[in-house]
Amino acid sequence: MSATTPVCQLLERQSGDYRGWLWVAPPADPWLTTQAPGPLWSADLTLARQWRAVGLTAYDSLEPRLDTPPGAVLFWPKTHALGEWWLLALCRRLPEGTPLQVVGENQGGIKRVLKVLAALGLGCRKLDSARRSTLFETRVGPVALDPDAVWQRFEAAGLALASHPGVFGHGKLDDGTRLLLENLPHELGRRGERVLDVGCGDGIIAASLAQRGAEVTALDVSAFAVEATRRTLAANALEGTVVQSDVYDGLADGERFAAIVSNPPFHQERAIDYGPAARLIAEAPERLERGGSLLLVANAFLPYPDRLEAAFGRFSILADDRRFRVYRAIRR
Ligand SMILES: C[S@@+](CC[C@H](N)C(=O)[O-])C[C@H]1O[C@@H](n2cnc3c(N)ncnc32)[C@H](O)[C@@H]1O
Repeated sequence: MSATTPVCQLLERQSGDYRGWLWVAPPADPWLTTQAPGPLWSADLTLARQWRAVGLTAYDSLEPRLDTPPGAVLFWPKTHALGEWWLLALCRRLPEGTPLQVVGENQGGIKRVLKVLAALGLGCRKLDSARRSTLFETRVGPVALDPDAVWQRFEAAGLALASHPGVFGHGKLDDGTRLLLENLPHELGRRGERVLDVGCGDGIIAASLAQRGAEVTALDVSAFAVEATRRTLAANALEGTVVQSDVYDGLADGERFAAIVSNPPFHQERAIDYGPAARLIAEAPERLERGGSLLLVANAFLPYPDRLEAAFGRFSILADDRRFRVYRAIRR
């Protein structure tokens, strides 16, 4: 199967044999699993599942025990600080001297990698450039920097929030989330009800609900978000269950909640993807107790009213500031 993304098209034209190499934070591209099968290290659970589905090894935690591969390719993300985290984490986990290639799109800032590698004392050479992407080659070396030094804390909505460059919002409260929190029904969570935060990010919604007294479960597909939410709850001396899960897939069968609260995702890498939000809405009635509410905030242009109507029959709009809307749908 041919590569579909520019970065994999660039790899596809290399003469080297990538079989068995470790793919680090790649995009979803079938070429990787079919033409150059090797283990995956990604924070994204959906990608890890694709690898496992074809019998390949996938590491989806932030601190895996990696088997030693013949080499590794790091897909440089558009968030530079996140690329640095992956690079430092690889240097911590792979033996010194392991061949390491770094690939990324030019408009995503891949050329800055040269400076990063030089600052770490790692030599580097450009292997190839095409498809508006560039491929560099280096080797894993000893680095003194701790990848986890990128974790920061910030204050918002009366809470201390853990922030990481791999987590939505990174260091600031999203305007949509703010509107949602300001318009949550006053009584929600105050009697210790079970409440679910889907797509928890840094844990702002989960922590706000736990602060009200709710018994919170928070989930996110990203290992960075799961870790951020755990850190946020701990930083505020709050409790909650946090799971890495693709929408509801990681919950126990039949597990139901008094409310589901979410600022749902609609981007997958750079493309718009309504898939997770559509599933969140369609399957919400099965995850809510009778009389329970789904509370969502979304950009006003997103096509959620039709989906809410299809799943719940009716819904109301609790707030609308022209950019964002807060929706409430009740399971009858
Ligand atoms: C718009 S952000 C909201 C983050 C946080 N709740 C807030 O309000 O700041 C959406 C979150 O959904 C997560 N996400 C994306 N796809 C998902 C999926 N399939 N299942 C669960 N979470 C997902 C993303 O990782 C991201 O953290």
